[in-house]
Amino acid sequence: MQRRDVILRFLAEPTDMNFGGKVHGGAVMKWIDQTGYACAAGWCGSYCVTVYVGGIRFAKPIAIGSLVELRAQVIYTGRTSMHVAVDVSAADPRHSAYSATTHCIIVFMAIDEAGRPVVVPPWVPVEPHDRALEAYAKRLMDLRKGIEVEMERYRPDSGPDDHGSHGAPPPG
Ligand SMILES: CC(C)(COP(=O)(O)OP(=O)(O)OC[C@H]1O[C@@H](n2cnc3c(N)ncnc32)[C@H](O)[C@@H]1OP(=O)(O)O)[C@@H](O)C(=O)NCCC(=O)NCCS
Repeated sequence: MQRRDVILRFLAEPTDMNFGGKVHGGAVMKWIDQTGYACAAGWCGSYCVTVYVGGIRFAKPIAIGSLVELRAQVIYTGRTSMHVAVDVSAADPRHSAYSATTHCIIVFMAIDEAGRPVVVPPWVPVEPHDRALEAYAKRLMDLRKGIEVEMERYRPDSGPDDHGSHGAPPPG
């Protein structure tokens, strides 16, 4: 059966720790990718690859030993892509209150065994909340176009005047 959302819950382990004693940002990014993948694959029934990860803002640190929850849901589908919203929250397992720590949008593309694109089942939002989420995903797509143009200018191989100055700021 087609599934639109996925929830993962587990304890943040000492192996997830960064040098400051909290959960490593890279660990959180991996959990986001894994949860988003499970959600997208569950929706389309195919293998999926990550195409894009939206700006991740780490709003609060996560303590080791926290109960971590990741909620992912498909909020927009294109022809072969699925936009998945992932919300990360954490709680002290001795208390029930979760506190939001991170939110991001991650885009997956469905592919078959030969790596060819697969057309995904459309997500058709009906409820006002779901329609608002779809509109949010579309607005982010539009905003991203400007960001991508700007980032394209930064690439070391982006133009004849560039001399491989990777890491240098683009001309103003
Ligand atoms: C993912 C990949 C196959 C896409 O190939 P491509 O030829 O660039 O594909 P397209 O330009 O046709 O885009 C494919 C889909 O992704 C979407 N997409 C492409 N760039 C995007 C972006 N920056 N943001 C959101 N969606 C994007 C397209 O809109 C399209 O979706 P649609 O069919 O619903 O319209 C290719 O870029 C790739 O192999 N990337 C590496 C993936 C990877 O290694 N991921 C990490 C490990 S899983």
